[in-house]
Amino acid sequence: MLSCIQPTGDVHLGNYLGALRNWVAGQHENDAFHGIVDLHALTITEAPDVLGQATLQLAAMLFAVGLDPDEATIFVQSHVPEHSQLGWMMECTVSYGELTRMTQFKDKSAKRQENTSTAEFISAGLFTYPALQAADILLYDTDEVPVGEDQRQHIEITRDIAIRFNHRFGDTFVLPKAVTPKAGARVMDLQDPTSKMSKSANTDSGLVYLLDEPAAVRKKFKRAVTDSDSEVRFDRAEKPGVSNLLEILAACTGGAPEALAAGYTQYGPLKADAGEAVIELLQPIQARYHELMTDRGELQSLLRKGAGKAREVAAVTLARAQAAAGMLPA
Ligand code: AMP
Ligand code: TRP
Repeated sequence: MLSCIQPTGDVHLGNYLGALRNWVAGQHENDAFHGIVDLHALTITEAPDVLGQATLQLAAMLFAVGLDPDEATIFVQSHVPEHSQLGWMMECTVSYGELTRMTQFKDKSAKRQENTSTAEFISAGLFTYPALQAADILLYDTDEVPVGEDQRQHIEITRDIAIRFNHRFGDTFVLPKAVTPKAGARVMDLQDPTSKMSKSANTDSGLVYLLDEPAAVRKKFKRAVTDSDSEVRFDRAEKPGVSNLLEILAACTGGAPEALAAGYTQYGPLKADAGEAVIELLQPIQARYHELMTDRGELQSLLRKGAGKAREVAAVTLARAQAAAGMLPA
């Protein structure tokens, strides 16, 4: 199983309750690889001194939420050069036409064009991105890639690339499939509870970051959008704001949102309790995060160990692909 996350933007409560927490829960059962995909982030990185720091911070956060370097393989993509190497071979296996049909490229390039500061530059890397993603996946003989809806097309193209390569050069790659991650909580924006909490939101006021101070968390919950009647019940369609608070509270305390609703007659106490439950949930994560960040050497050594484990698998697959394609061994 492989999952990857880009080191762009801070990790928020939706990422944690919806995804990271499940990675941690599943790490003993699965042979799991988790990549911090800095080469993908490079497609939109233009400022110096940001990518390495963002990579280190994300790594610290993954360890802080409980990923165990002895159970799962946590690595930085650029530390495993096989990704770039197989990525090129994948670029030569995917067609220009296939890449032009990728909706993520259309969306991301359109977004850049709308923004005057990024409009002139759309990197070729943004276009060939799915070839690198295919390399990420195929290098580990991955069976399952847990992804959300937005990434299904990239998993499909990875399968198409693998099928084409296997057909051209003989059986080389395992065909992966996208799996729907075990349903974690779906966390909505506190200011706009009909939209998912997302780092692409227009303002931060509805997002709770895992590193938010208690006072900031309290304030965000206090200002959470609810509705004008005052009945507390779990009903996503009619009462999205209240239901989101109940679901967050349930995800933090382990209860069921419907049952928790019975304990409240007013919104104020529900907001306060949800906020306090989140503060309590985040407290140990933040403590571990800050401790890890004080020892950069130790973090880098954990990542080196992860890259070593990843390379053991990736190097074998790359060599197999190179041999299949008839490249002259070095
Ligand atoms: P992203 O940062 O949007 O690429 O998301 C990284 C992971 O977090 C993915 O597995 C998403 O499914 C999950 N995720 C992101 N936002 C939310 C949310 N608001 N609620 C639940 N899961 C989320
Ligand atoms: N494209 C994915 C995203 O935007 C990140 C990603 C890169 C990925 N390589 C991957 C996801 C391999 C799964 C498997 O979220």
